[in-house]
Amino acid sequence: MKRTKSEIRMQGTACRNSLDHRFIGSMSNVIFQKLMEQPFYEKCNTIMCYVSFKNEVNSHGFIKKMLSQNKRVCIPLIIENGILAAKIINDFSELKPGPSGILEPDGKTALEIEPAEIELVIVPGITFDRNLQRIGYGAGYYDRFLSRTGKKCIKTGIAFENQIIKKIPVEKHDIPMDIVITEKYVYKKH
Ligand SMILES: Nc1ncnc2c1ncn2[C@@H]1O[C@H](COP(=O)(O)OP(=O)(O)OP(=O)(O)O)[C@@H](O)[C@H]1O
Ligand SMILES: [Mg+2]
Repeated sequence: MKRTKSEIRMQGTACRNSLDHRFIGSMSNVIFQKLMEQPFYEKCNTIMCYVSFKNEVNSHGFIKKMLSQNKRVCIPLIIENGILAAKIINDFSELKPGPSGILEPDGKTALEIEPAEIELVIVPGITFDRNLQRIGYGAGYYDRFLSRTGKKCIKTGIAFENQIIKKIPVEKHDIPMDIVITEKYVYKKH
């Protein structure tokens, strides 16, 4: 029987919560290393990346790495109901815990950039499928944000292999990834 998005979301959350911290730490390095080995990575200068929270693939080290490589690093910030903004940071220490405990840039001082300027977006998710479809937390933040990025922007989903399933039911507003990277595989359009 076909599962609904919310059933998949529940199972995916349970899968991710089952991972232990040592595994998350070492596999997160493997995943971001693979991302940096992709030929497009070097060419992209303006890069947006989520800041990991709890059992998500840990992106903190990667954000610091990008800053040391002098990339233009943008971090998502919820600015109004349902809307994500991309804010530039120059140092990891500019991030402070927001209302949900997730590290955020300063809404008042951090410079905002247009989604159209972003060349690469690193997208978190609860579940992805082999056709590069994605399920997030269920508020539509990334679907809304990604619909505003340019045609050439590379949308990269990041996940552990146990978050990948065969097929996710897709709705009209869902934006697929261009590539999904796990510790085991790099999924691309075929
Ligand atoms: N571009 C859009 N414009 C208006 N509403 C949208 C848009 N994209 C998504 N939504 C709304 O957001 C809600 C949640 O979408 P969905 O179930 O796809 O969440 P999700 O992809 O898991 O969430 P997220 O992107 O925040 O991780 C839907 O009810 C949908 O109507
Ligand atoms: Mg969606």
